[in-house]
Amino acid sequence: MPDVTSITITIDGPAGAGKSTVARGLACRLGIDFLDTGAMYRGAAVVALMAGINLEDGPAIAAAVDRSRLRFDWDGSPPRLLIDWPEALDISRRIREADATKAVTPVSAQPAVRAAMVQRQRAIRDEHPQIVTEGRDQGSVVFPDAGVKFYLDASPETRACRRALELREAGREVDEQQILEGILARDHADQSRADGPLCVPEGAIVVDTTDLTLEQVIALLDEYVKTARAQAPRSRPADP
Ligand code: DC
Repeated sequence: MPDVTSITITIDGPAGAGKSTVARGLACRLGIDFLDTGAMYRGAAVVALMAGINLEDGPAIAAAVDRSRLRFDWDGSPPRLLIDWPEALDISRRIREADATKAVTPVSAQPAVRAAMVQRQRAIRDEHPQIVTEGRDQGSVVFPDAGVKFYLDASPETRACRRALELREAGREVDEQQILEGILARDHADQSRADGPLCVPEGAIVVDTTDLTLEQVIALLDEYVKTARAQAPRSRPADP
């Protein structure tokens, strides 16, 4: 039997490439856990906003995140994001608000914050040995040893169009040009960050999702994972 007791699958890529939805769908299809690392950085930004900490003060934010006991409740589907300080709160929705989306760019560029998050993400993987993890640095920095690595991409226009559709479906008025500008600015910030910049990890399978539906992307990734699992080192027979 192939050794399938543990598998780490990383999905990296720029904002709006569909990583979260694809990662969640793939994890569901494989019956394994899903880690949204963007939510963790957004959580750090929310803690900083709530505690009134300067968004460029990495050590203070890392200490506040520690104090807040930022964590996932894995009983939820998707897992809920909780904090105990400055208030005991479920911040799963709060992290998607506009001020958190704005604050996460400077917060996620702070080396002290990144170091704390990388440590937490590795600890989560140790507790969830079969996991799909999604972000910007998962295959390059956090889990360079991952069994399967993906890099999802799509043209900036397609990413802006998808985001606009999502917002319209949620009943919001949108300016697509403004969304496109936001995406280009985030691409630039993610790629030019000194610590853990967005890049194609070594050994990653690059998938351009521009002309693919969500279902097609998930099916494609599932095929790659099946092939990788079939080729995984077989368990050694017990020594005589
Ligand atoms: O995927 P997202 O939009 O929820 O990510 C929020 C922010 O966090 C985004 O600006 C990039 C940053 N991020 C990061 O720096 N490293 C990760 N592994 C995940 C997200």
